[in-house]
Order: sequence, then C-alpha cells, then structure tokens
Amino acid sequence: MKKHRVIAIDGPAASGKSTTAKLLATRLGFIYLDTGAMYRTVTLAALERGIDIRNEIAVGRLAGEIKIDFIPTEDGNRVILDGRDITNEIRTPAVDAAVSPVSSYKIVREKMVALQKEFARRGDVVAEGRDMATVVFPDADLKIFLVADLETRAIRRCRQLDSPGLKTTIEDQMASLSSRDLFDSERENSPLKKDPEAVVLDTSGMSINEQVERALELVSERLGIE
Ligand code: DC
Repeated sequence: MKKHRVIAIDGPAASGKSTTAKLLATRLGFIYLDTGAMYRTVTLAALERGIDIRNEIAVGRLAGEIKIDFIPTEDGNRVILDGRDITNEIRTPAVDAAVSPVSSYKIVREKMVALQKEFARRGDVVAEGRDMATVVFPDADLKIFLVADLETRAIRRCRQLDSPGLKTTIEDQMASLSSRDLFDSERENSPLKKDPEAVVLDTSGMSINEQVERALELVSERLGIE
C-alpha cells in the first residue's frame, strides 16, 4: 500500500496553525486535519448533554459514542457531530474554557488519535494540533512548530471571534490563551512540546501570506513538491 505523506503542524493556541495548515492543504491538494476541532467537538457534546467536565470516565465514554466527521468546503472544513453541523458552536468561550481538561484525558486522546490515524489513511494530510509530530505522526515527512507572541495571538483570536454575541477583549483572550497553553504544556498525556525534528516558525510579525510561503518553502525542501 502506498504510504501517504504527512505534514505535522503543532504549536500553542492561535499561533497561526489553522490558517497555515488550511491554506497549505489547499495549495498542495492534501486533506486538512484539524485535530483541535475534534477535542472541541467532544467538549461541546459533553456541555450539551450536561456531563460534568471533571468526570473523566463519563467524558471518555462519550468520546467513544459520538461520531465526528469533516466535510471539506472552499472555506475549510465543516465539523459534523452525529450528522449535525457544529462548526461555529465549537469556537465559543464556553468550549474554549472546557476543552483543555477534556483533551487531557487519556481515554479521550486514545479515541481521537485512532480517528486521526484513520483520516490520514485516506490520503496525504496536513495535520495540525499539539502532538502531531511527537505522538500521532512521529514519521511525518515535515514537522513544523509554529509560535507567536501572546499579544499577537490574542489579537488574532479576537478577530476570529468578531461576530455578534461573541464579544471578547484582547485582555480576556491573553488570559484565556495563556492559561490554556500552560495547562496543555503541563498535562501528563501528550503535552504540547516541540519535537526535536520540528522546524520552528515564529509568525509574530508575519502576514498570512508570508506564513504560508515560508511553510511552502519547507515543503519544497523536504518533500520536493513545488
Ligand atoms: O487548536 P485548538 O485551540 O482548536 O485546540 C483546542 C484544544 O484542544 C487545545 O486547548 C488543546 C487541545 N488539543 C490537543 O490536546 N491535542 C491536539 N492534537 C489538538 C488540540
């Protein structure tokens, strides 16, 4: 069987992973795999069903019961939970606040990692998350670790969330992002950390175009794709 190619992109919240990974996948004709969206979907399902987020067993059981799917569109993936489009619902501050503990549970991670590997069997992928290079795809053809300073990331997140009913401030976002990063980096299971083979890309002063061009240069060097 032909081995599919994998580009693994990791980094802290709002470091530019989704934008870069999405555009890179479109340019290369690869599948775009947003693994954060999967942990967000489990979190949303738990909140909707009134499951206590601190109840690891109940949340783990839920992760095995729900069906998560992606439908690719020109604007990126639509995220589907049990047949329902929940793309917007998984980006609310309520999900932001609960997703770190949910994603720290071993059983939840095992289920999501199995699903991620299954998606990668469908074709070449650009996979983004926290443990793509370290745990899920250690043999990835290219590993990129994206970083950006906290204020830049908070400003980006505010722009993403700029829709009616979702009011937030840069200060709120700086607090939310830094507490999530701390939790994600210090957890026991698959913490956020740079793989020794990963190339660090600091996107602080970069435009989206520059981020993608730099990533494409790395792809061309490592995978020989123009
Ligand atoms: O990338 P994001 O902000 O959508 O991710 C949401 C949360 O999911 C993040 O706080 C950490 C977790 N996550 C993870 O633990 N492992 C991944 N591969 C992707 C995300």
